[in-house]
Amino acid sequence: MLNKNLSKAKFLKLTIFLIYMDNVIELQNVAKHYEMGDNIVRALDGVNIKVQKGDFVAIMGPSGSGKSTGMNLVGSLDLPTQGEIYLDGRNIAHLEESQLSQIRGKKIGFIFQSFNLIPNLTAKENVMLPMLFQGLDFQNREEKAQELLKLVDLEDRGDHYPNQLSGGQQQRVAIARSLSNDPEVILADEPTGNLDTKTGEKVMKFLDELNKSGKTIIMVTHDPEVAQKHARTIYWLRDGKIEKVTKRLNTIWRTIK
Ligand SMILES: Nc1ncnc2c1ncn2[C@@H]1O[C@H](COP(=O)(O)OP(=O)(O)OP(=O)(O)O)[C@@H](O)[C@H]1O
Ligand SMILES: [Mg+2]
Repeated sequence: MLNKNLSKAKFLKLTIFLIYMDNVIELQNVAKHYEMGDNIVRALDGVNIKVQKGDFVAIMGPSGSGKSTGMNLVGSLDLPTQGEIYLDGRNIAHLEESQLSQIRGKKIGFIFQSFNLIPNLTAKENVMLPMLFQGLDFQNREEKAQELLKLVDLEDRGDHYPNQLSGGQQQRVAIARSLSNDPEVILADEPTGNLDTKTGEKVMKFLDELNKSGKTIIMVTHDPEVAQKHARTIYWLRDGKIEKVTKRLNTIWRTIK
């Protein structure tokens, strides 16, 4: 009897552990407020988000609704005014910058709307750069960068500088760079915002492939078609709050909150 109860308790503990571990990111009652003179701007105002490992999440909402603020917090680029943020089970809401930058380097890949490549480095050097901080030697960095450029169909553009590449190519270099430290999570803030529809689709195809390979993707987009085509969970933000959450099962979207 005792044994049975013990194994039940163990099973319950394990289940709770697994459910907990399943969330790669969790935001609990997170707020980011800015004091602007007498005013307080509530960029984020008490949001709860849980992102499961391997999910493809889109964050949608009007301009100024807090999407980039949320991404910066998840990406440990900024600290919240209030609330807790768990990344892979670790609370990052109160860490020092040196610890945050380590976590960022290891766990998170960033893709920005404006590509953010370093102009005086070649495509390959841009992809190699984040690996420098992980202590890989030159040859390993170069080999890995070449592999990643191949993954995004740019193996023949490694020696080009950003201004010698098209917008779509620059964004693919940025995708390759975001993968250089084999991150758990990829954060993409309007990754197709500066691209025409066709080039944007090509970039989205790479994000789909990364997601299929097991990466968790969180993407900000203002385009509901892109969100509904690629994401499986959508958080809808308005005025710093979550207005609703929708989830897709095959082709059917359900509002779950
Ligand atoms: N550093 C800051 N200081 C003061 N207010 C800020 C700061 N950063 C953002 N805000 C304000 O917080 C709100 C949310 O900004 P955020 O950049 O997250 O919006 P967004 O949803 O990403 O918008 P967009 O779609 O235009 O990119 C905005 O009202 C903005 O003016
Ligand atoms: Mg933004």
